[in-house]
Amino acid sequence: MPYVTENNLTDLAVERWNNIDDPRLRKVMTSLITHLHAFVRDIEPTQEEWAAAIDFLTRTGQICTDKRQEFILLSDVLGVSMLVDAINHRLPSGATPSTVEGPFHVAGSPEIPPGGNLADGAPGEACFVSGTVCGTDGRPIGGAILDIWQTDGEGLYEAQRDVDGPWMRGFYRTGPDGSYAIRTVAPIGYTIPMDGTVGELMNRTRISHFRPAHIHFHVKASGYQNIVTHLFRDGDEYIDSDVVFGVKAPLIVKFEEQPSGSKAPSGEILNEPFYMVNYDFVLQSTKTA
Ligand code: BEZ
Ligand code: FE
Repeated sequence: MPYVTENNLTDLAVERWNNIDDPRLRKVMTSLITHLHAFVRDIEPTQEEWAAAIDFLTRTGQICTDKRQEFILLSDVLGVSMLVDAINHRLPSGATPSTVEGPFHVAGSPEIPPGGNLADGAPGEACFVSGTVCGTDGRPIGGAILDIWQTDGEGLYEAQRDVDGPWMRGFYRTGPDGSYAIRTVAPIGYTIPMDGTVGELMNRTRISHFRPAHIHFHVKASGYQNIVTHLFRDGDEYIDSDVVFGVKAPLIVKFEEQPSGSKAPSGEILNEPFYMVNYDFVLQSTKTA
């Protein structure tokens, strides 16, 4: 083997890491080395800068617990989570697009009957979300599940509240005609956690650390590709600067304001102003995927 020089080091490292039987791991490792070496050659770090980078990654790992994943947050703000999501969800046009899941989903949410209130006792302005779930062929999907989580009207998720029971989450089932009806409160935009290494990095930039108001959905139906997505509030001040790059045009919906005394979708007259949102989810059949 030739002795190492600055010029031949990348070729030598790639050649060595070619020595892997598993073709996928070989591809991953040789590509990683190629791109990592190109990055280092590009920025030419000092020894101190490289030590600071290692220290940053070390502290990022040390913050992670079973409730907090700072590495995923780092991947989110760098746009990598959305890129992986896009590569894995190349859906036909017309199908509802996917977006990042984020860290606040809690498994095992309770079932809520059609029209039932997801936000019982939570602060915020009343909001009714309704529509259908159907296939790309337009056929309604009965019995589809919409697993939903969101912030309350103060921008807080269950994990950020000192609560025992489920908070701002639950699942609804579509009727035989594919329809669903949710009562909740309007979510508001919020900041990603800024007290860790990601926040430390963001604070050295002029990048907004806010997400626009949104409601998370995991839509599942047998025979169809499940999707993890959000509905975003049209007109939100952060709609064009989502810190995790999650916004896609078809996911932006109007929150139509209704004055106090209007009839809600449930038929009741509400003595407070409220919002109405309409959205039809379109799923791809697993047979055409
Ligand atoms: C969220 O929408 O819940 C979220 C997504 C990515 C990072 C932080 C929060
Ligand atoms: Fe969220």
